[in-house]
Amino acid sequence: MRKVILLWMCLLGMSLLRAADRPFIRIETKTASLIYRVVADGRLYQCYLGKKLTHEADLVHLPAGTEAYLTHGMKDYFEPAIRVLHNDGNPSLALKYKSHEQKALAPDVNETVITLEDEQYPVTVKLHYTAYVAENVIRTYAEICHAEKKPVTLYNYASAMLHLDRAAYYLTEFSGDWASEAHAQEQPLAFGKKVLDTKLGTRASMFCSPFFVLSLDGPASENAGDVLVGTLGWTGNFRFTFEVDNEQKLRLLAGINPYASEYELKQGEVFRTPDFYFTYSTDGMGQASRNFHDWARNHQLKDGGKTRMTLLNNWEATYFNFDEQKLVTLMDDAVRLGVDMFLLDDGWFANKYPRSSDKQGLGDWQETTSKLPHGIGFLTDEAKKRGIKFGIWIEPEMVNPKSELYERHKDWVIHLPNRDEYYFRNQLVLDLSNPEVQDYVFGVVDGLLTKYPDIAFFKWDCNSPITNIYSVYLKDRQSHLYIDYVRGLYRVLNRIQAKYPDLPMMLCSGGGGRSDYEALRYFTEFWPSDNTDPIERLFIQWGFSQVFPAKALCAHVTTWNSGTSVKFRTDVAMMGKLGFDIKLSDLNEKETEFCQGAVQNYNRLKPAILEGDLYRLVSPYAGNHTSSMYVTKDKSRAVVFAFDIYPRYAEKTQPVRLQGIEADKMYRVREINLMPGVQTSLPADGKVFSGEYLMTVGLPLFSTRKLSSRVVEVVAE
Ligand code: DGJ
Repeated sequence: MRKVILLWMCLLGMSLLRAADRPFIRIETKTASLIYRVVADGRLYQCYLGKKLTHEADLVHLPAGTEAYLTHGMKDYFEPAIRVLHNDGNPSLALKYKSHEQKALAPDVNETVITLEDEQYPVTVKLHYTAYVAENVIRTYAEICHAEKKPVTLYNYASAMLHLDRAAYYLTEFSGDWASEAHAQEQPLAFGKKVLDTKLGTRASMFCSPFFVLSLDGPASENAGDVLVGTLGWTGNFRFTFEVDNEQKLRLLAGINPYASEYELKQGEVFRTPDFYFTYSTDGMGQASRNFHDWARNHQLKDGGKTRMTLLNNWEATYFNFDEQKLVTLMDDAVRLGVDMFLLDDGWFANKYPRSSDKQGLGDWQETTSKLPHGIGFLTDEAKKRGIKFGIWIEPEMVNPKSELYERHKDWVIHLPNRDEYYFRNQLVLDLSNPEVQDYVFGVVDGLLTKYPDIAFFKWDCNSPITNIYSVYLKDRQSHLYIDYVRGLYRVLNRIQAKYPDLPMMLCSGGGGRSDYEALRYFTEFWPSDNTDPIERLFIQWGFSQVFPAKALCAHVTTWNSGTSVKFRTDVAMMGKLGFDIKLSDLNEKETEFCQGAVQNYNRLKPAILEGDLYRLVSPYAGNHTSSMYVTKDKSRAVVFAFDIYPRYAEKTQPVRLQGIEADKMYRVREINLMPGVQTSLPADGKVFSGEYLMTVGLPLFSTRKLSSRVVEVVAE
């Protein structure tokens, strides 16, 4: 009997040991948990993703879940995270848990690395997770490598695979086109796949932004419900796949779009996927956005903790038609407006084929002497004399066939042999997979800054997708081009960052064709759209605000839709990083005075708009009005923007209920940004209310006047 008991104890010990060898791996933020477990056959399973579970003892009750990083060729029937071909022709991979490590990278930033291995083939996959605890954001990426003698071909290589098992799934995508970027559209997901992807290469997100809202159990709402908001940090082709299976479970795959991008991975080489970032909010999209905004400012966006410069840009004021005198007049306009910088746009370069239109000159980065006989130095001096900064536009990844660069270096141009060239905006893309081209592109920035150290800002444009895809440099590795291009771009941006760490730059891509968080490590802000019609901007900025903070979203006052008042246009632009793309001669005295006052107000409100919390109060998609507000982190000051777009005749408007302030604090309400001589019609103006009243009863900010707007400052007493 004693022997039997001993044997039983021994077996129990063994199974306990096995259980202890299969720990729960918890990746946790302040409010969310992502939990993995190794199952009996040694594979890694995701057993939970959702609101934070705080009782460790409960974890044993979790259902087993689904294999974490599913492979092709084994027992799964749906979209895999990884698909490889070994050099003996075997197309399968069986990944088993090997080990994991967890460590703090910084206070409140924890990293987990889980290593998986195939027992038959020497392939290793490391899954990385960084939990930004305070901001509730998780970053994840994979590293794939092998020790096989010949290269292994990678066909699929997801940055992230996440599993959800919920009653219903609703996906909001942010898609559109040039001048209509990031329009929110929600749809329920049923059995099968919904894919959001791009094959544009450079101007990658022209049709679809690299972020989404996945709402669980029901449609997404602003202040309630579980949503997973995700975005990929990759300035190239991306793909998000949402697949609902036969059991109504959803798998989410995020990563580089593997389309036409099979990757020959050499022995010992590590294929590192881009970062996928996500936040899980149980309080709807508003909280998810605030999580991303905080995380971006604290951890990701270039100069996330610094302020931003207001500016006057000459693009819409002059297009290609300018000379020194016109630019100096615009600098005077910038000074009168009170902005920080003058930004010179496209059209200042090339001599053999002067850049007098978008048909020629790209690639030849010397000042056009007929337009600027005294060079850029004259302009930086003129800006300096006026006490403003000087910024300049470049598009260094591109070339016009009508340029000296093209004549000299056709081998640097992405183009197909034996085919006609197809142009997008009359230009072609330079081959950034080639290190010589990387040197050249770095040299565009470095050359300008060496010669003109007073250049304080760059606007880096990218107007063409990759057409005629073929690289002379890559020879027989053509399927690497989409990936190696982006890596080449990052190499250049890294060099610029290393040499000029304090240089602010705007990312632009024919409007909002590039908007991802990897690029935004190098860029302080981006241009969401060439469409500056304020009505359209209300929608476009609403879309981008899902993941990007106001300080990253450039918003300029222009003459687009001059059927709207200058006040309306300025009020819309003040919800982002304010700038002007207009001549003061387009404005009358009162309008100029109004803009001057608006710039002063903006400077005072920067702690709320640029550094504070955004609350989207009334959606432009919901009807004829929209409103958003920004609250300082200490809740002592807020600014509310309210817009009437096309209200109906005699429509009954509802008060706007504020959010995010303190119920028990008293706040004085004051309408600002009024046209000179116009008195406020807001009954609440100058009065004091409790935060509770403002958030419960609200303020009557909407009207039935079409295209009217209101800005209200709310200051704690
Ligand atoms: C496209 C950008 O989006 C515009 O702002 C402007 O810079 C033009 N390119 C210049 O060609």
